[in-house]
Amino acid sequence: MQATVNGITLNYEDRGQGLPLLLIHGFPLSNAMWQQQIEALSASYRVIAPDLRGFGTSDITPGPYPMETFANDLVALLDTLAIEQAVLCGLSMGGYISFAFLRDYAERIRGLILCDTRARDDSDEGKATRETNAQLVEREGANAIADRMLPNLLSPNAPQERHDMLRAIIAGNSPQAIAAALRGMGMRPDSSDLLPTITVPTLLVVGEEDALSPPSEMRELQQHIPDCELAVIPAAGHVANLDNPQAFNEAVSGFLAKL
Ligand code: MLT
Repeated sequence: MQATVNGITLNYEDRGQGLPLLLIHGFPLSNAMWQQQIEALSASYRVIAPDLRGFGTSDITPGPYPMETFANDLVALLDTLAIEQAVLCGLSMGGYISFAFLRDYAERIRGLILCDTRARDDSDEGKATRETNAQLVEREGANAIADRMLPNLLSPNAPQERHDMLRAIIAGNSPQAIAAALRGMGMRPDSSDLLPTITVPTLLVVGEEDALSPPSEMRELQQHIPDCELAVIPAAGHVANLDNPQAFNEAVSGFLAKL
């Protein structure tokens, strides 16, 4: 489906009925990463899974894309769909976007699921790497960033076909949008101050083999969020929902059932 929000066309999936669950994909992916969640969770919930600005088949605009820009698009999408409140479920960059959403639109959040993400901003070194990678992708294309990222996205035991699937999603995205999101992530503020102010039930989900935002970092987050539980997904890396969809879906369903 398509909606016009903030002057651009966003592609999204909208399946099922009941409590709205907004799935926010990671970098540099698309809503295709959520296929197994859309199928399973739409049996009991209304699952909305957009392609973020620049990604999948949504419109590409000039960068950078600060996390607030994505959050503004998502709230406009909820407005278009006449959804007052949704549970946000964001993975990695989707988590950074959830923090921007929380900062500006807390009243629209019914519950929060933060997956394989972090609240801190990038270090100076991290910011410099974002710019290096933005220039790399502009020069050499999306496969160059796939080469850099793929070794860290999945469980070490993930089959080749899962790597191939992720590569296909990354390669389908425009170098311009990937560079815009990299620069946007580099600009994001530290959201640690928001953690104690979260008033909605929160679930943290992390792959036990996540090398980018490891369980130790998610446990640290848990200590600062008032009403918060943590699910560690076995046999899963950074994109935990792809490595172990069954355990991921069970953790999410169990959380949603209590809301
Ligand atoms: C993601 O999966 O969205 C990225 O690893 C986020 C990042 O590069 O910080």
